[in-house]
Amino acid sequence: MYQKIANDKLLDLTGKTAIVTGSAGGIGKAIALRLHEAGANVVIADLNQSGSDDVAHILNEQRESSALGYGLDVTNAEAVDSLTEHVVREFGSIDILVNNAGIFPFISLAEMTDDTFSHVIDVNLRGVFLLTKVVSEVMKEHKTSGKIINVTSIDAIHPSMVGLAHYDASKHAVWGFTKNIALELMQYGITVNAIAPGGIATPGVGSTDGEQVAGLGPFLKQIPMGRMGNADEIAKAALFLASDMASYMTGEQVVVDGGRLLS
Ligand code: NAI
Repeated sequence: MYQKIANDKLLDLTGKTAIVTGSAGGIGKAIALRLHEAGANVVIADLNQSGSDDVAHILNEQRESSALGYGLDVTNAEAVDSLTEHVVREFGSIDILVNNAGIFPFISLAEMTDDTFSHVIDVNLRGVFLLTKVVSEVMKEHKTSGKIINVTSIDAIHPSMVGLAHYDASKHAVWGFTKNIALELMQYGITVNAIAPGGIATPGVGSTDGEQVAGLGPFLKQIPMGRMGNADEIAKAALFLASDMASYMTGEQVVVDGGRLLS
């Protein structure tokens, strides 16, 4: 049923509060900026405390008391609880959770230690579980029609490079987790979706300011669009999923990869 709603209203997040993990830089920062631009209060939760504070400072200059920088290790269950309590005290509720923090250290299976494997699983998978568990409880309690967005990877679908076995295992797992909790949380009006980026120029892949990374030659050749993506191209998909535009979507994974999975 068509209702006349202005396009900017469809993307309006005024009055909502979002937590974005890993948002001191890279894709997370771009997502935080987009959600804030759409009117949301944004919590910049990152291992890098000073980087989080810097991003929050920029946003608070645009709109007073609309952003909070928070030093958080997503693998620390107590810290995740404290963050959640802090955000509810500060902003009243939590409407949007973006589980973006992730690591991708390249190492062959032959050289991979038990510790390296566990650490990647801990950050990329267990971190998503810890945040999702406590934040979904807040969403249920406050009866917000919450939106949970998990940043997976094209590696959640198909391996992109040798040396990422632990990473691919973690991202496949997050995709499975996304689908299962989408089913469980549906009854509370909470939607859970994933975004699978591929080839995005971020500090994590060696790009300081979103510029193309020359050293990724072989990988670049496999991107049909012939270039790396920029972080805001993931942020726009996140804004879509966080908004009313995605009202009938849950348990879905949106691939944003310049066609990389086609090649
Ligand atoms: P990045 O390395 O540029 O930024 C990651 C951020 O996460 C950093 O600010 C870092 O401090 C933070 N972080 C790391 N460990 C943390 C922890 N334990 N607790 C809290 N924060 C932590 O990475 P990028 O490229 O922005 O990646 C973001 C997400 O996107 C990751 O989940 C990654 O797997 C995913 N992704 C990225 C792709 C790319 O081409 N850049 C492709 C596919 C997926």
